[in-house]
Amino acid sequence: MNLTLKVWRQKNDRSEGKFEDYPLSDVSEDSSFLEMRDILNEQLVEKGKEPVAFDHDCREGICGMCSMTINGIAHGPQRATTACQLHMRHFKDGDTVVIEPWRSKAFPVIRDLVVDRSSFDRIIEAGGYISVGTGQAPDGNNIPVEKDKASHAFDAATCIGCGACVAACPNASAMLFVSAKVSHLAQLPQGNVEAKRRARKMVQQMDDEGFGYCSNISACEAECPKEISIEHIARLNREYLSTSLSSEETASS
Ligand code: SF4
Ligand code: FES
Repeated sequence: MNLTLKVWRQKNDRSEGKFEDYPLSDVSEDSSFLEMRDILNEQLVEKGKEPVAFDHDCREGICGMCSMTINGIAHGPQRATTACQLHMRHFKDGDTVVIEPWRSKAFPVIRDLVVDRSSFDRIIEAGGYISVGTGQAPDGNNIPVEKDKASHAFDAATCIGCGACVAACPNASAMLFVSAKVSHLAQLPQGNVEAKRRARKMVQQMDDEGFGYCSNISACEAECPKEISIEHIARLNREYLSTSLSSEETASS
């Protein structure tokens, strides 16, 4: 198929970006979206032009690196699919495909489609961890976990930290990401040690990074490639409230 790619080009976070058009012919419908991007870059390099910078790593839907908005949708038109797992058979001959970076103040553009998502790392550093004793790995069955709690925790743990929820949200809120991380640990006994402060600290860091507020639009859930449910946001709110109340009680006693 023949396509026109409308791609965001931006030198760095201080320069102004703009869309540039690139015609691309004979694209196989069996190729992946990123393979199609590789072909464009090979052609640009052959012509002595700068290739388009974009993030990618595993190309298996695991690492969360392939952040890009395709035709106005984070990760593109295929539901529950990362950009690297998207195939060209979902496009048709003659299509114009618009490709741009995540748009959020907290994700500044580094170059072209690559954004700086270290704000997510700092949110994790603020509380997305558990304390464990060092030494030999404990036996897998040492700490029994109820099946439904383990399943819910696992659902939350499938978040790959891609940032599509932020890109999809008109407020650029990171609530779905933060809620997945809090919900994952809040439901496991191993997460109890830090439970009293985790939600408060992670939400505080999220606010400090400049992410927007949540107004229950649910665009995050609709465009999340791992189908993380907004039910986790309700759990985050409960955790936040209980940790805030317990810290107030401690302060007043
Ligand atoms: S909640 Fe979904 S969209 Fe947001 S970072 Fe996790 S996997 Fe990506
Ligand atoms: S490149 Fe790893 S999830 Fe897409």
